[in-house]
Amino acid sequence: MIIDDFYLKSQIRTVPDWPKPGILFRDVSTIFENPKAWRGVMDSFIHRYMELDFSHIGAMDARGFLIGSNLSYVLNKPLVLFRKKGKLPAKTISVEYDLEYGTASLEVHADSLQKGDRVLLVDDLIATGGTLLAAVQLIEKLGARTIEAAAIMDLPDLGGSRRLQNAGVPTFSLCAFE
Ligand code: PRP
Ligand code: ADE
Ligand code: MG
Repeated sequence: MIIDDFYLKSQIRTVPDWPKPGILFRDVSTIFENPKAWRGVMDSFIHRYMELDFSHIGAMDARGFLIGSNLSYVLNKPLVLFRKKGKLPAKTISVEYDLEYGTASLEVHADSLQKGDRVLLVDDLIATGGTLLAAVQLIEKLGARTIEAAAIMDLPDLGGSRRLQNAGVPTFSLCAFE
């Protein structure tokens, strides 16, 4: 069943001033701990993506892995892990990026994607879009394309979904916190 966005938002915990003063942290762990909401989230993604023409799922370290893993299993698509620095053992390519509360470096195995591959990116949340845009850059470096970037929630005031759309990447989210 498609999840109601009002219900979904009511089930996401908000923690003020974490990890830094001034940040309203949207804590998706309360969704993972709630089978009704978690199933509704996954059913909604499955419903949207079962007919889309894409070749790979790209999942963002760490919270995006949980969504990507379920989607890969149900839709029978290969799962590519986009990881924080120093976690992938074989030859990688990497890119630096900014988050709402810091900077980080994202990596992917150089042989995970080929020219012509069509990638659906998944994460829990779009804030500044720095994380997903870093993955989009890595996908381009490997000659592949990002078909869409999907998240449970969008924080539109931080401009990430707009930045992704300006970069030619459609975005999809199940709810938004203005
Ligand atoms: C969080 C969140 C998204 C990202 C969104 O990840 O899970 O991946 O920030 O922010 P952005 O749109 O500004 O890039 P984070 O790297 O904090 O930690 P995680 O490893 O727990 O997913
Ligand atoms: N990642 C970036 N900004 C965030 C926020 N406000 N809440 C949870 N995760 C985030
Ligand atoms: Mg993350």
